[in-house]
Amino acid sequence: MGILPRITHVPSAVMSIRLLLQSTRRPTFEHAQWLSRDIFRRYSSFSPLKASLIKNINIFSKSSKSRSLPLPLYKPEAGCGFADKTSILKAGQLSSVFESSDAETADIVLQNFELHENLVSEEEENSLLEEVEDYLEDLDYEYDHWDNAIHGYRETEKSQWSVKSQAVLRRIRQVAFSSREQQLSLVHVLDLAQDGYIKPHVDSVKFCGSTITGVSLLSTAIMRLAKQNNPEHWVNVVLKPRSLYVIRDVVRYQFTHEILKDSESSFRGQRLPRARRISIICRNEPS
Ligand code: OGA
Ligand code: MN
Repeated sequence: MGILPRITHVPSAVMSIRLLLQSTRRPTFEHAQWLSRDIFRRYSSFSPLKASLIKNINIFSKSSKSRSLPLPLYKPEAGCGFADKTSILKAGQLSSVFESSDAETADIVLQNFELHENLVSEEEENSLLEEVEDYLEDLDYEYDHWDNAIHGYRETEKSQWSVKSQAVLRRIRQVAFSSREQQLSLVHVLDLAQDGYIKPHVDSVKFCGSTITGVSLLSTAIMRLAKQNNPEHWVNVVLKPRSLYVIRDVVRYQFTHEILKDSESSFRGQRLPRARRISIICRNEPS
C-alpha cells in the first residue's frame, strides 16, 4: 500500500481519520475515503463531526497529488471444503426461521436472500471469537448520536486472519460470491452489546456492491428486512449463531435491514431474547 503504515485493523472510522491526520505522509483521497467509509456507509444525514471529517478529507484531496489507488480486493483461491450450498430457506424449513407481513414480500425476499445454518462449526466459532476478542476488548462500545444507524457497538475491519479463520472466511466467500465478483478484502467485524441494535438502513451503494453476507456468532438475533418505500412490508429472519445470511440485489438495494433490539426481539409472537452478538461481514465492490 505504500502510503499508509501497514494496518491490520482499521479501528473505527473516527479513529481511522485520526490515524490519517497523524500520518506524516499524506494519504490520497481514495485512502481517506476507504478508511472512512464506515461513516458514510449507513448514514444519510451529517452531524457536525462528520462534516468536519469530510472537510479534512477534502483538504487531503486538494493537497495530495491524485494517485488513484484501488480498494484492496480479495483474491479468491481454489478449494473451500464446503460442498452443500443449499440455503435452508430453499430447503423448505421456512416457518421456524422466517415470518413475513405478506406472501408477496416473502416471495421477493426469498429470491434474494439466503440463510445457511451451521455454516461454521462450534470449534470454528470459538476460534473466530478468540481472534476478534483479542482486538475488540480494547475498544469501548459506542452509543452514538441518535441519527446513527448502530447503537451499542464496537467494530473493526480486519485484513490479517489466522489460518483457521481464513478457511472459514473462504467458505463464506465461496457461498456468497461468484468467482467473477470483485470482493473487498477487509472483513468487517461488528460487536453488538446486549443492549445494542442496528436501525433500518441500506448500506451505501458507493462503498459496497450487490451482495452483503454475514455470519452471526454468540447470540441468536432477528434481522428484519423491510421495503424501503413501504416498511409495512417486511420479513423477520431468525439468525442463529453460526448461521450465514446473504443479502442480494433487490433486497440489498430496495429493502432496509436491521437487527432488532433485545426488547423488541420476538418471532411468531414468542419472545426471543437477544444477547451480545458478533457478526463477521464480507462485501463486494460496487460495480
Ligand atoms: C452493517 C450491518 C449487519 C450484521 O454493519 O451495516 O447491517 O449482521 N450489519 O451485523
Ligand atoms: Mn448494513
